[in-house]
Amino acid sequence: MYRSHTCGELRLSHINQEVTLAGWVQRVRNMGGMTFIDLRDRYGITQLSFNLEKDVELCEKARKLGREFVIQIGGIVIERESKNKQLATGEIEIEVSSFSVLNASDTPPFTIEDDTDGGEELRMRYRYLDLRRNPLKQNLQLRHKLAIETRKYMDALEFMEIETPYLIKSTPEGARDFVVPSRMHGGEFYALPQSPQTFKQILMVGGYDRYFQIVRCFRDEDLRADRQPEFTQIDCEMAFVEQEDILNTFEGLVRHLFKSVKGIELPEFVRMFYSDAMAKYGSDKPDLRFGMEFVELNDVAKNQGFQLFDDSELIIGINASGAGEFTRKQLDELTDFVKRPQIGAKGLIYCKVNEDGTFKSSVDKFFDQEKLAAWAVKCDAKPGDLILVLAGETNKTRKQMNELRLEMGNQLGLRKKGEYRPMWVLDFPLLEWDEDSQRFYAMHHPFTSPKLEQAHLLDTDPGKVNANAYDMVINGVELGGGSIRIHDQDLQSKMFSILGFSKEEAQKQFGFLLGAFKYGAPPHGGIAFGFDRLAAMFGGTDSIRDYIAFPKNNAGRDLMIDSPSTIADDQLDELSLLVNLKSE
Ligand code: AMO
Repeated sequence: MYRSHTCGELRLSHINQEVTLAGWVQRVRNMGGMTFIDLRDRYGITQLSFNLEKDVELCEKARKLGREFVIQIGGIVIERESKNKQLATGEIEIEVSSFSVLNASDTPPFTIEDDTDGGEELRMRYRYLDLRRNPLKQNLQLRHKLAIETRKYMDALEFMEIETPYLIKSTPEGARDFVVPSRMHGGEFYALPQSPQTFKQILMVGGYDRYFQIVRCFRDEDLRADRQPEFTQIDCEMAFVEQEDILNTFEGLVRHLFKSVKGIELPEFVRMFYSDAMAKYGSDKPDLRFGMEFVELNDVAKNQGFQLFDDSELIIGINASGAGEFTRKQLDELTDFVKRPQIGAKGLIYCKVNEDGTFKSSVDKFFDQEKLAAWAVKCDAKPGDLILVLAGETNKTRKQMNELRLEMGNQLGLRKKGEYRPMWVLDFPLLEWDEDSQRFYAMHHPFTSPKLEQAHLLDTDPGKVNANAYDMVINGVELGGGSIRIHDQDLQSKMFSILGFSKEEAQKQFGFLLGAFKYGAPPHGGIAFGFDRLAAMFGGTDSIRDYIAFPKNNAGRDLMIDSPSTIADDQLDELSLLVNLKSE
């Protein structure tokens, strides 16, 4: 038996018991005649004590132990003289009577403690050491709990977890595919799924009317804190449902997760149309923890002789309530913020409402007190408030103002941790026009159903058609998205043609789905949640990497196994790739 207890288990109630523990040496401290060792395993840390006077040989052996040695010890649980309230086992220690080294360790390249001295690169390269640290352990524990609770909830509602294949052919979800060359069919490739979208729809045709899967997805896209090339979805699909059924079912899932994992009762899920979200917040994933809604100022600011406004399609103001005290320097910094190339505004106009009710703006030359008062009325600005204004082309200005609003939310401390404002964004446009390629793209994916009452517009003005598509957003994070699907082969064929697929191409790529739709496809719809994002949100951070045991860095590399990497010529040859490379 390697151990009788774990390192997180022993308490005062175990006093005088003989125990055996095994774990890693976190730290060795020599204090006069005593040596103390913190012994760590997955469950916690237990203090070991060695008394020089009682056993010189044992104590000296202990003093030679290095960090991260794996040891097994035997001893008696005793009450500590100086108790450590921070530690679950802090009231006891083990008076060690024997120990053996199970394995030695090189000195680790960083300290394995909550606040480590290791930089991100180093920790990624030695992920197995980083995984020993508490913060990562807690994150993976949280992720595990979320997976278990998801399965409980889904199972209780009779959803079946069904696996779908990873070696498939391309699914058009908007990113590039990762491809895998086939050895047996030289020159042909599998694609890794960007999501199991088509398979879950085929499962509906197959009669499994409630499906879910906690599943890996692969997307070759630019990486950010909330994006990994391989990530996990809670992927779900239901047949014989309408949008309302899906919203209710999955609101239920997220409520269950918050309640069971965090003990939090979520407030009401706000429902907002996409068009309203864009007009009020300039984003399809607004953070509703704070207001600062956009106010259109065209009718009080346009055609007053100020060129920038007069040339603008849209003038938007926000009321940063209580920020009237902002200094010149702070306002200059905000101007620099919106002028950064990533945001691209030409400039920022402000208007402070002074405590005496007068106004001080950056455009006093063009707008007198009376005119500024009209802005304040529109923005509901009171003494002590600050109105910030951006103007320009509608979509660009909205995007810029979204960034500024979030920045102000940060600066004013309005994006509070631990506060959750869930919402559904509904009725996304079906299609998105791309100027460069002069064609429509599906905003969600090509299997999304248009609002049937608008379907007639598909022939005349497809850009106007809305979709039965919805996103779940919490605190400005898109946690999940889905749609009611097309289940009619003619409508699906029409969609492919609007998206620029010829009949032959559509048949080649999606013939299997169109074929399945000929055999009684039930009405169906679904949703997928970003599981890593969900875990990160529960953990209170933005970076999903910390919730994945073996993530890639921002350049898409796994630093631990050093991947991607080249492969040998004979392997290339076997995959019919050597010829192709050489012939290029
Ligand atoms: P969508 O593409 O919106 O929908 O993806 C669903 C959710 O997956 C998460 N997500 C990601 N998480 C981490 N890294 C990534 N690279 C990444 N990309 C997406 C997001 C997102 O909301 N098949 C459809 C779902 C459906 O229609 O049922 C789909 O995949 O949280």
